[in-house]
Amino acid sequence: MEINGKRVVLTGAAGGMGSILAEQLVAAGARLAMVDANADALHQLAGKLGTVYPVAGDLASAEGCRVAADECMQLLGGIDLLINLAGINSFAAYEDEDPRKIELMMHVNLLAPMWLARAFLPSMQKQNSGRIVNVGSIFGSIGFAYFSVYSATKFGLRGFSEALRRELADTHIKVTYIAPRAVKTPMNSDAVMQMGEATGMNMDAPEEVVQKIIAAINNDRKDIYFGFPEALFVRVNVLFPRLVDKALAAQNRIARTFARKQ
Ligand SMILES: NC(=O)c1ccc[n+]([C@@H]2O[C@H](COP(=O)([O-])OP(=O)(O)OC[C@H]3O[C@@H](n4cnc5c(N)ncnc54)[C@H](OP(=O)(O)O)[C@@H]3O)[C@@H](O)[C@H]2O)c1
Repeated sequence: MEINGKRVVLTGAAGGMGSILAEQLVAAGARLAMVDANADALHQLAGKLGTVYPVAGDLASAEGCRVAADECMQLLGGIDLLINLAGINSFAAYEDEDPRKIELMMHVNLLAPMWLARAFLPSMQKQNSGRIVNVGSIFGSIGFAYFSVYSATKFGLRGFSEALRRELADTHIKVTYIAPRAVKTPMNSDAVMQMGEATGMNMDAPEEVVQKIIAAINNDRKDIYFGFPEALFVRVNVLFPRLVDKALAAQNRIARTFARKQ
């Protein structure tokens, strides 16, 4: 998809990857509505970027998504590209997870992209064109210890993306699923960063990831999985999951010590 002149809605726009992606989209000629719960950071970014529409809103409920989607539609007068980037994570032993955080993660990471897709789809169907980009994670294909809730949300998002892509196959509305490996952004707490260092986890710079997201949009990619060996592990996990159990066992034991410290 050619980004120039397109009406784009980006969620999580004020975040580590979102702020860089917003800048790149504007540079590529997008008309951009930026949705984020962090109103201060959003307005600061909007001031820097100039001709963009900041939409401060909480995507943790169906109503919040409806309000944000309505505002975006009014500001842009339609939509060509929805990028579901907003997300939250949690690094903890499952029994220590706060039930409210479990629900919040399901809402923000899985239900919000589904609600927003549902809100914008009729407009895309009317014009018979558009693209929905869902940003998942490698953890949406490889269930990761101490990220059990986060993994569940991203497995759900991958399944939704695949099903919707197939459902829309006879139209000109496309669905792209993006699965980065770990990225150096504020989403990852100090404990995650320390665990990553102790286990030798590969971490990409947000700029590199954003470049690949833009390339995936430009090149009409159905999905992308980032990095070696992570992208290979995704395939191995489908065919030989016991091999991946074994490969991750030592790493999981190290991760446990960091997850427990929180
Ligand atoms: N960083 C990684 O290691 C990594 C790896 C793979 C995939 N991803 C995925 O990439 C995406 C972007 O992550 P990131 O690293 O850029 O994270 P980030 O820096 O934490 O940015 C996420 C943004 O989403 C916003 N947000 C959170 N909850 C929201 C809500 N209820 N309503 C509206 N906005 C909300 C955050 O606002 P607040 O600041 O107010 O919370 C923040 O501005 C996520 O979907 C994530 O799962 C990240």
